Amino acid sequence: MKKTVNIALPKGRLGEKVYNMFKAAGYECPSIEETNRKLIFENEEKCIRYFWVKPSDVSIYVERGAADIGVAGKDIILEYRPDVYELLDLNMGKCRMAVAAKKGFTDSKTSTLRVATKFPYIAQCFYDKKCRDIDIINLNGSIELAPILDLSDVIVDIVETGSTLRENNLEVIEDVVPISARLIVNKVSYKFKNNEIDAIVSEMAKQVENK
Ligand code: PRP
Repeated sequence: MKKTVNIALPKGRLGEKVYNMFKAAGYECPSIEETNRKLIFENEEKCIRYFWVKPSDVSIYVERGAADIGVAGKDIILEYRPDVYELLDLNMGKCRMAVAAKKGFTDSKTSTLRVATKFPYIAQCFYDKKCRDIDIINLNGSIELAPILDLSDVIVDIVETGSTLRENNLEVIEDVVPISARLIVNKVSYKFKNNEIDAIVSEMAKQVENK
């Protein structure tokens, strides 16, 4: 008997695009397209169950097996390093992680660099490789404010269109890593629901190729 696969989708714009990709791959779920505040949606015939979770929580659901598979940004995977399989680059939600600062800023390297970020692990690794001493300032949002108010010298953050930086007189100093959405899989689920998960991954891979 076919086993039901639980899929964690990241709530928001990326999640809707990701769902449309699952739909095009043959895993539609009509109830998810209705406007309501439900969080779980099932298509019994297709043996799939979707749920919306906060994007930064997808990897937690998948790592702990509450979801068998999920879609998470490479930024989240690099930051939280969940013990999951990363099986497919969906080639969407593309952006980059970068260091940015006020226009004209140069790092004099005479004192500890103050770095504001939502991604302390990624930022620390990036500067460790350069042997540069930093002081991490952990923020949860509106990171661009930090250098403007002199809370930090630089930020390590996601840059998509670049308009948040431009409109606040900031600029990219260095790229850290390119980012895109990845399909991740719980390690135990991959053993016990191997056929079902492989079928989904291969249909999704076809969608990526056809894009
Ligand atoms: C992200 C990121 C930047 C912005 C970049 O923030 O942290 O602030 O998007 O996008 P852009 O280059 O297209 O302007 P998000 O919208 O997730 O909100 P946050 O500031 O609350 O983290």
